[in-house]
Amino acid sequence: MEELKQRILAEATVLSHDVLKLDALLNQQVDPQLTMRMGQEFAELYRSEQITRVVTVESSGIPVAFATAYELGVPLVFARRKKTLLADPDALVERVPSFTKGIVTDIVLSQQFITAEDRILFIDDIIANGDAARGLVKIIQRSGATLVGVGIVIEKSFQNGAQSIREQGIRLDSLVKIASLDEGKITFA
Ligand code: G4P
Ligand code: NA
Ligand code: NA
Repeated sequence: MEELKQRILAEATVLSHDVLKLDALLNQQVDPQLTMRMGQEFAELYRSEQITRVVTVESSGIPVAFATAYELGVPLVFARRKKTLLADPDALVERVPSFTKGIVTDIVLSQQFITAEDRILFIDDIIANGDAARGLVKIIQRSGATLVGVGIVIEKSFQNGAQSIREQGIRLDSLVKIASLDEGKITFA
């Protein structure tokens, strides 16, 4: 998505060889018009797939997942991240480490909002090592729903998350792929 590449070059900052600061576009501020266009891109890719629900993990994936769900005319479901868990017999839970935060959290999704009849499009903002993404993939698989594909706004191709999901035979589409952040420079794949 060329427009997104230009916005990343203009508004993102390289923090280190593997972290891109995206507060202006994803993590603190969002541009609703740009975000709706991201949703249109994902919706076009999955239009013929009879998606019944779009699923993401809170928090930064929610705006683009909302835009995608709006375009497809289906509900958005977002998994919660919780440090402590109230006993909920109806909840699917996966424990995952977080790359940027250096902590472990539980990703929780109620079975009420994901059933064996569902055809799921999983949308997220960034994929790095993919721990959170793999956790949500496991939850979707445990629910019995069909995971049709994964849509990612920014894939950091130099980390192994996207590859590890594709290696499971799961379709994964990214709007932008970043090959490197070396020497303070953003290089697209
Ligand atoms: P992931 O690849 O499955 O997303 O998981 P990983 O555990 O590798 O990354 C965990 C968190 O770090 C995710 O946010 C992810 O978006 C964020 N992250 C990874 N690399 C970068 C980066 O280069 N820049 C920025 N800005 N974020 C990065 P999260 O914990 O799900 O939090 P939230 O933002 O959704 O609340
Ligand atoms: Na994030
Ligand atoms: Na996220």
